[in-house]
Amino acid sequence: KNNILTDTFNRKHTYLRISLTEKCNLRCQYCMPEEGVELAPNDKILTDDEILRISRLFASAGVTKIRFTGGEPLIRKNIESLIEQVGKIEGIEKIGITTNGLVLHRKLERLQKGGVNLLNISLDTLDTHKFTLITRRLGWEKVMESINKALSLNFNPVKINCVVMKNINDMEICDFVEMTREKNVEIRFIEYMPFGGNKWSDKKFVSYTDMIKMIKEKFGALDRCVDEANNTSKTYQVPGFKGRVGFITSMSEHFCSSCNRLRMTADGNLKVCLFGNTEVSLRDIMRSGASDEEILKVINQAVLKKKASHAVVEGLVLCFVNLSNTITSKLGVA
Ligand code: GTP
Ligand code: 5AD
Ligand code: SF4
Repeated sequence: KNNILTDTFNRKHTYLRISLTEKCNLRCQYCMPEEGVELAPNDKILTDDEILRISRLFASAGVTKIRFTGGEPLIRKNIESLIEQVGKIEGIEKIGITTNGLVLHRKLERLQKGGVNLLNISLDTLDTHKFTLITRRLGWEKVMESINKALSLNFNPVKINCVVMKNINDMEICDFVEMTREKNVEIRFIEYMPFGGNKWSDKKFVSYTDMIKMIKEKFGALDRCVDEANNTSKTYQVPGFKGRVGFITSMSEHFCSSCNRLRMTADGNLKVCLFGNTEVSLRDIMRSGASDEEILKVINQAVLKKKASHAVVEGLVLCFVNLSNTITSKLGVA
């Protein structure tokens, strides 16, 4: 069953990330310019029916986990009913959302009933003013409300994504770790990546090793947890604390050899690697009347072209040239 999603390095792809929209209600400095990004016209964005068809096709080929991303996925109209239908697809065991949490608290109960069982919420600061500095919008309180709501609805774990930037929020790392004392959250510190014309510089970069060092100085030795296979993060726990702390080391130690992901952009392109620039439009072939078999064949050909690893670690210089002008939402990071 898994065969058509197995690449030439014997990686089996069971995890599909689908971007539901390029739009976002925040303007995080590391992701988007103030004026937002150039959007694909509405008629180029996949419809609910097309997303369902794609989800069914991938499920039939062995995908068991789908995560909805954006932009901000929760600003897509009728996401609740879309997810209810995805929740009914045979073989899909896990449905996740990666969200900035602004409107999540209003939608969460229905999403959970529809089958969402994995929740990743972005939060880069515990200070309401700094939130506005980083995201260029108001809303810190709403994100906290969403996190608390997720905890009260017993999502386990509630993951919090925190992009760490030197002299902006790195001094808050220990405050975030402190949150894991009483709350069953997993705080994931993400190494800052150069995307979207975000003026990345090594002066703003904080590595996994630096972060661990700061935490150990304050909390002492950490327990290393057992990570799920194919996990992007390395997880730890302060002994006795309820929650956990993770590190996503996209820059310093890539995890390409265990990659199990494929992704769909909001406008219907299949990407086999976050950093790769080869894309194939499943939208166009669907709209030209392709059969399920024909679509699966195109998917298989794309998977077979997947490379062993990306260029970010192989050559930082290469990476700047290739990526620094690319808009994050087109890459499908978020
Ligand atoms: P889980 O389902 O909890 O494992 O979520 P996730 O970590 O796959 O997804 P999330 O949307 O929360 O992404 C968090 C971060 O992981 C992103 O900011 C990226 O830095 C990184 N990430 C996600 N997918 C990829 C990928 O395919 N390659 C690389 N290098 N990094 C990725
Ligand atoms: N570097 C690292 N992480 C990023 N994200 C968005 N842009 C970047 C970047 N340049 C993160 C968001 C979100 C996750 C899906 O991707 O904070 O949590
Ligand atoms: Fe929006 Fe996420 Fe980008 Fe922030 S990181 S602007 S919340 S898509």
